[in-house]
Amino acid sequence: MNTAEALPMPAPRGQISIRNVSKVYDPDGARVLAVDNCSMEIAAGEFCVVVGPSGCGKTTLLNAIAGFHGITSGEILLDGKLLCAPGKTPPPGSDRIVVFQNGALFPWYNVLENVTFGPVVQGVMPEREARDKARELLSQMGLQGIEGNYPSEISSGMRRRVEIARAMMTDPSVLLLDEPFRAMDALTKTVVHQFLLDVYDRSNKTIFFITHDLEEAIFLGTKVYIMTTRPARIKTVLDVDIPRPRDFRVLSSSKYIKLKKECIEAVHEEALKAFKAGEREMA
Ligand SMILES: Nc1ncnc2c1ncn2[C@@H]1O[C@H](COP(=O)(O)OP(=O)(O)OP(=O)(O)O)[C@@H](O)[C@H]1O
Ligand SMILES: [Mg+2]
Repeated sequence: MNTAEALPMPAPRGQISIRNVSKVYDPDGARVLAVDNCSMEIAAGEFCVVVGPSGCGKTTLLNAIAGFHGITSGEILLDGKLLCAPGKTPPPGSDRIVVFQNGALFPWYNVLENVTFGPVVQGVMPEREARDKARELLSQMGLQGIEGNYPSEISSGMRRRVEIARAMMTDPSVLLLDEPFRAMDALTKTVVHQFLLDVYDRSNKTIFFITHDLEEAIFLGTKVYIMTTRPARIKTVLDVDIPRPRDFRVLSSSKYIKLKKECIEAVHEEALKAFKAGEREMA
């Protein structure tokens, strides 16, 4: 599965600088500070994993990069160019593609049509080229032979892989994944992880990946950013210095076990704070 060594590596793109970003939601005057003065430097081609307590502001940050909403202060740069600032929200673009937790395939299109639909409709590539590219990406994701199936006819693990193939069609600089494997059983996850790692090793894309699963975070990530309880800031950054390509054997290595322990301790501290804050709100 790991054939990345044999392929020439494209120059990495997708450096993200998040500088002193804050985000306040203000629905009907109920001011919610979701992200507070958060800074991250994500290198081009980094597999960046973000973990943190529920409600701490992870999705808020991802949505700002995606261009789904604005920020209240600070700035976000992509490859050195200003992407977001107060009053400047970028339109969602083909350079930053989001893969959602609950999936978003069109049920009335088959797999191949789902993958080719966006680039063809947007006029990014002619239908024939799109089909060829889609077939190649589907095959890289281990999905050859299901092009004619409808989303309801394939497993959730397959659907998620179709979505990742679809996200890769326009060759984005950045893939934004918000808990994409949350609902998956552990066995399916291990397979899907391997395909994602293979795609990452081949493409060298910047990946911004949110998860609650600490094992997944360390297995996949180059760096794991642990966030504080709301409002989100960076508490700790773990460097995952486990060589690539990685496979399931990593899971039993002493380095992995040591990093997992560090990660659990840091996250547990924040989870406890979030829990106590929740209890105070309910009292
Ligand atoms: N549109 C909104 N309007 C008001 N408050 C919001 C809005 N979206 C999110 N929030 C609040 O902002 C905070 C951060 O939310 P966010 O969804 O970013 O957290 P999260 O870290 O992704 O959580 P989870 O792990 O549960 O997905 C939460 O308190 C949430 O209730
Ligand atoms: Mg979220």
